[in-house]
Amino acid sequence: MIFSLIIAKDDMTKKPSLFTCLTPEIVHLYDFSSKISVVTDILRASSTIVTALAYGASEIMPFANESDCKIKRNENFIIAGERNGVTIPEFEMGNSPFEYMSDKITGKKIALTTTNGTQAIEKSKGADEILIGALLNLKSTAQYLVTQNKDVIVVCAGWKGHFCLEDTLFAGALAEELIHLGFDIDEDSTLAALELWKNSKENLNKLMEKSSHFKRLNKLNIHEDAKHCLTKDLYKIVAGIRKNTIIVLN
Ligand code: MLT
Repeated sequence: MIFSLIIAKDDMTKKPSLFTCLTPEIVHLYDFSSKISVVTDILRASSTIVTALAYGASEIMPFANESDCKIKRNENFIIAGERNGVTIPEFEMGNSPFEYMSDKITGKKIALTTTNGTQAIEKSKGADEILIGALLNLKSTAQYLVTQNKDVIVVCAGWKGHFCLEDTLFAGALAEELIHLGFDIDEDSTLAALELWKNSKENLNKLMEKSSHFKRLNKLNIHEDAKHCLTKDLYKIVAGIRKNTIIVLN
């Protein structure tokens, strides 16, 4: 009896922890059960999703696979997506946040497939809940996580299995917020992400200009997207998955 009371007290006092899965290639190393996953793909899928929801899209259904996404056209979805940063031929929209800053998406359902972001969502499906995190909705996401009192795993979408600076910066930014809100941070990858964020947050562009996807987008003449995607707390929304589709939770 005394023993179970001690365990119950321990459960109540245990702070939630934040983990960082630095690329989807190592998701199998994490136990997602009873945890919340925050999927991030700063350049650009998660930033675009958050922007589209902020501009009134009613839902965004993520697909790992191009053909599954395309079929949704028959169900009144706008079909959207990219491969290697370029809009998929025959799709109505690509993956630039600026395409979604328009009345044309208000109240609309969007089916989205992307090179890495929607694949990372697929790989996070063992979690109790999946959120979509961006710098654009950083604080709102952190505040929501605190109300849930569960361990959190940030899943960085990376690039084709490789580590990406921008997603790791997001993990560090979220760690900084969550430390102030009472989370425990003691996993090495989260500590590394936090250090990277602290060292770069005053001049994100300086580091980002060296990053591979930033250079890739520049080659495609997409300069403005990165600037938008690196903006903190522009939108006060929490994006989360309910019944396989992404909606505004609050
Ligand atoms: C992805 O999912 O890999 C992307 O967001 C790539 C991009 O469109 O920039």
